[in-house]
Amino acid sequence: MISLNLVLMGLPGAGKGTQAERIVEKYHIPHISTGDMFRAAMANGTDLGKKAKEFMDAGALVPDEVTIGIVRERLAEKDCEKGFLLDGFPRTVPQAEALDEILKDQGRSIEFVLNINVDKEQLMARLTGRRICKSCGSTYHLIFNPPSKENVCNRCGGELYQRADDNEETVLNRLNVNINQSVPLLTFFEEKGILRNVNGQQAIEKVFEDITKLLDQLT
Ligand code: AP5
Ligand code: MG
Repeated sequence: MISLNLVLMGLPGAGKGTQAERIVEKYHIPHISTGDMFRAAMANGTDLGKKAKEFMDAGALVPDEVTIGIVRERLAEKDCEKGFLLDGFPRTVPQAEALDEILKDQGRSIEFVLNINVDKEQLMARLTGRRICKSCGSTYHLIFNPPSKENVCNRCGGELYQRADDNEETVLNRLNVNINQSVPLLTFFEEKGILRNVNGQQAIEKVFEDITKLLDQLT
């Protein structure tokens, strides 16, 4: 059986979640977004959610030991046996090293790190106009990808909302934090020969087409 062990990288707003929706549907692998996991924990009021909240509200990174722990547990679940798509993890070199170790223990490794590139100037507009479905998590944009009916999800009819960290001030902080962290991380993956750059500054479906061309080399 072919397995796809993938990482999706890109600055906040690059389109990780948007492409992940399409990738997991086509390749039938689970979508593991650390951001989504933290938001779910916050909504449920768990200890993890309480720990993550202060960092997320400030647009800072949640500490590595917390983040690595939840990914380790998630990757041990049965549905990850046939592969997975990590979205927004790893985000630091220690996270990337920990991921290597976790996978080595399981006798596998990352095949591709898909890095979605978008100019910094575009990202603010993408994030402040983003809307997300409360029920199924589908992502929209008021201008770039509007739902057919205002405030209603095309897929499930759910209500759309704006993420708490999508205000201008927090977005600026998220961008700065992530730009700084991504430089050594990209070098780490480049040296391993698994980094694949994707032009994220194209129509959503065109970006997906480029990604499928890369992934079809593996399947
Ligand atoms: P996370 O939820 O991962 O947020 P992020 O990295 O800031 O990325 P986003 O989800 O904002 O952007 P995206 O790339 O998914 O873009 P999307 O597809 O939605 O993390 C949130 C927080 O959790 C972090 O700040 C941190 O505190 C914590 N955290 C998470 N992981 C962590 C880790 N590993 N370590 C430590 N802390 C961690 O698209 C954005 C918008 O653009 C949408 O409106 C969409 O419709 C639109 N759009 C998408 N593609 C296009 C296109 N091609 N053209 C035009 N518009 C487009
Ligand atoms: Mg996302």
